[in-house]
Amino acid sequence: APPLRELAAESGRFLGLGVNGPLLDQANYTAVAGTEFSSLTPGNEMKWGSVEPTRGSYSWAGADRIVDYAEAHDQEVHGHTLVWHSQLPDWVANGTFADGELRQVMTDHVATEVGRYAGRIARWDVVNEPLNEDGTLRDTVFLREIGPDYIADALRAARAADPDARLYINDYNTDGLGAKSDGMYELVTSLLDAGVPLDGVGFQAHLILGQVPASMEQNLRRFADLGLEVAVTELDVRMQLPSDAAKLQQQAVDYGAVVGACVAVDGCAGVTLWGFTDADSWIPPTFPGQGAALPWDENYQPKPAYHAIVEAL
Ligand code: XIL
Repeated sequence: APPLRELAAESGRFLGLGVNGPLLDQANYTAVAGTEFSSLTPGNEMKWGSVEPTRGSYSWAGADRIVDYAEAHDQEVHGHTLVWHSQLPDWVANGTFADGELRQVMTDHVATEVGRYAGRIARWDVVNEPLNEDGTLRDTVFLREIGPDYIADALRAARAADPDARLYINDYNTDGLGAKSDGMYELVTSLLDAGVPLDGVGFQAHLILGQVPASMEQNLRRFADLGLEVAVTELDVRMQLPSDAAKLQQQAVDYGAVVGACVAVDGCAGVTLWGFTDADSWIPPTFPGQGAALPWDENYQPKPAYHAIVEAL
C-alpha cells in the first residue's frame, strides 16, 4: 500500500506518530517513522521534566532533534506537552511557592518552550489530562496553587508566544460519550465563551481490545460542532498477552473503527499512533501482562491493524 501519510492526505488529514527520539538513529525504526507518518509527537522530549529539569536551566537537545527530523522528512510537529501533572521536574512537583509564584513559573515555562519553536509546531498540547474520571478538574499542583484559571492562563501564554500554533487540551477516557467527556465539553465551552484561545481537543484513545466506544464518532462530532479542531492524539489498543489470531483480528476492527470515526468527522484533523512497533510501546511496562498494542509487530512487520488503517483511510 502507499504510505499511510499519503492515504490520510487524500482526505486532508495527518497520520501521526508518537516518536521515541533515540530510536531515530535505528535504521529499521526510521525507515517507518520517516515515511509512513506526516506528523510527529515527541513521546517524552518536550515534557517539562525533560526540558527544564532544574529551574531556569533548559535542555533542548532531545526536542530539537525531533523537530529537525520532522522538518527534514516534511512532517508536522505536535508539541507535547506544556502543563501536565505527570513527568514534572521535582522543583515544580514538590516545590514551595509564594502566592502567585507558580502562575508566573508556569506562564514563563510556556512562553519559553512555545517561543523557542514558534512557527515550527502545528499543534500544542498546552494542557494535558486536566480531568478526573467524573469530569471535574483534577487535583494538581496547578489547580491547588493557581486555581481553575491555570488552564486559561496557559492557553493565553501559548498564544502570545506562537500565534500560528493550534492550541489543544488533551485527555484520555474522553473518547466516547460519558461523564469525563461531558466534563471536557463543559470545560472547552466555558473557555470559548470567555474568549480564551483554544483551537482543538485531543482524544488520546489509549484503548482496550474490543472496547472502542460506540459513541466515538458522535463524541468527536459534538466537539467539532463547537468550531474546534479535534484529533486522535495517542492511539493504541492493548490486549492481554499473549496475542493470537483472534485478538489481532479484533484489534484490526478496533483500529479501523477509530480511524473511521476520525475520517467521518469533518473537523477531525488526523490520528496519531502512540508508537508503531510493539518493540517500543509504553504499554508493557505500564500495564503488566498487556501489550501488542500497535499496528506493527516486534519485528517491524505490519499486523492486521495496519491493514485496517489502510482500509479506513
Ligand atoms: C508516556 C510515554 O510513552 C512513556 O515513555 C513515559 O514513560 C510515560 O508517558 N498519556 C500521555 C503521554 O499524554 O505523554 C504518555 O506517554 C502516555 C499517557
